Amino acid sequence: MSTPATGLAEETEATESLSLFHLMDPAVRANPYPLYRRLRTEDPVHWDPYLHAWIVTRYQDVVTVLSRFSADRTPSPEYFEALGVPEVSPIAKVMVKQMLFKDAPAHSRLRKLAGPAFMPARVRLLHRHIEEIADRLLDDIEARGDGKTDLMAEFAEPLPAIVTAEMLGVPVEDHVKLKEWSVTFAEMLGNFQHNPDRLGGVLRAVEHLAEYFQDAIHERRRYPKDGLIQSLMSAHADGDRLTDDEIVANCIVTMVGGLETTTNLIGNGALALLRNADKLAELRADRALIPDAVEELLRYESPSQLTARIAPGDVLLGGKQIRERQAVIAVMAAGNHDPERFSNPEQLILNRPDCRHLAFGWAAHFCFGAPLARLEGQVAFDSLLRRFPHLRLADEPLVWRENLGLRGLERLPLTLAPGP
Ligand code: HEM
Repeated sequence: MSTPATGLAEETEATESLSLFHLMDPAVRANPYPLYRRLRTEDPVHWDPYLHAWIVTRYQDVVTVLSRFSADRTPSPEYFEALGVPEVSPIAKVMVKQMLFKDAPAHSRLRKLAGPAFMPARVRLLHRHIEEIADRLLDDIEARGDGKTDLMAEFAEPLPAIVTAEMLGVPVEDHVKLKEWSVTFAEMLGNFQHNPDRLGGVLRAVEHLAEYFQDAIHERRRYPKDGLIQSLMSAHADGDRLTDDEIVANCIVTMVGGLETTTNLIGNGALALLRNADKLAELRADRALIPDAVEELLRYESPSQLTARIAPGDVLLGGKQIRERQAVIAVMAAGNHDPERFSNPEQLILNRPDCRHLAFGWAAHFCFGAPLARLEGQVAFDSLLRRFPHLRLADEPLVWRENLGLRGLERLPLTLAPGP
């Protein structure tokens, strides 16, 4: 994808024009919803010349794209070569085996084989255990006794990292390095501009992750142990099994897809509640509202803001002619604020009726980890509210991560003591 203009006059033009590229601007990233509103109202199926892709922002159009368009969008080796980093093609090799980038029948085959490992009943067994992990992390914050925390570093990041390590069946102490590699790899998934300076780091992260999971598979062959890796190794249907490469690729997508997003559900959700004191008070007074509140927080500040698809043929959408193989960016976060679908979309309504949001995607690729993500979110908010009755935002500016698709904060500084 090409970059927008670099000269001053051209930059001004780029800023005023309607483009998703403005997400590169930290001020827009701090609040992308006015940009999404402009796109949705001025040109809901918009050809973005800077991104060379169609941008789709209405709820119903996002549903159509996610239901009918192709997910096979792995960047080709030529794409990386054009960026001047031909040796990066191993990234494409891993991506191409992930279910996220496949269409039926290859996609249905992977989901069928991996399905049992993600069953909601299996996830429910983790409930008590996730509570224990959350409590341990909050104990550490309390024990320090300085009355403050960076919620991202001390809670929102380690909680999903520990849970995911346990779910995969790898040593829990590895969660720190797994998190580090997965944040780097997530740049690939979350950004539509791939910065050649950073691609080397992404390549190393993929190599580390691939080697790590290949070793884990060898280890499991010698010493079987419960967990996702073992389930994927023993999965079979109609005489079919997953190859080692497929297990590795889908462990990576589970790590990356599950960690960043769940971290950001906790971080973005906590921020939204702290900015809406009346809603926070409502939730404290009735914690039975938490499951509904998590759905509303997913809608209101979606951790995964957008995804991409490829037109399977020439398609007419919203009166626009999309040509075969053209890229389409479906902005779920914009659809989640579409007033045609949600009344008062800019308001946080904890028990919003019919909150069928797009935060987990739609149709065939609907998030495999949704039951686990929901449970982690519910436990996280329940534990936070129970343990810290006086949580407040510290008086520090907030910085949003540079990842454009996966919306989340760098830090979330909070104070725990009652206000003056
Ligand atoms: C709040 C947390 C989460 C959010 C917002 C989220 C969001 C999403 C979205 C939007 C998709 C569809 C992407 C597309 O269609 O292009 C997806 C797919 C996926 N997610 Fe999640 N996710 C979350 C947590 C998790 C967790 C915890 C796991 C694993 C344990 C996970 C594993 C996956 C997998 C494997 C897919 C691919 C499914 C497929 O291609 O069929 N996710 N997720």
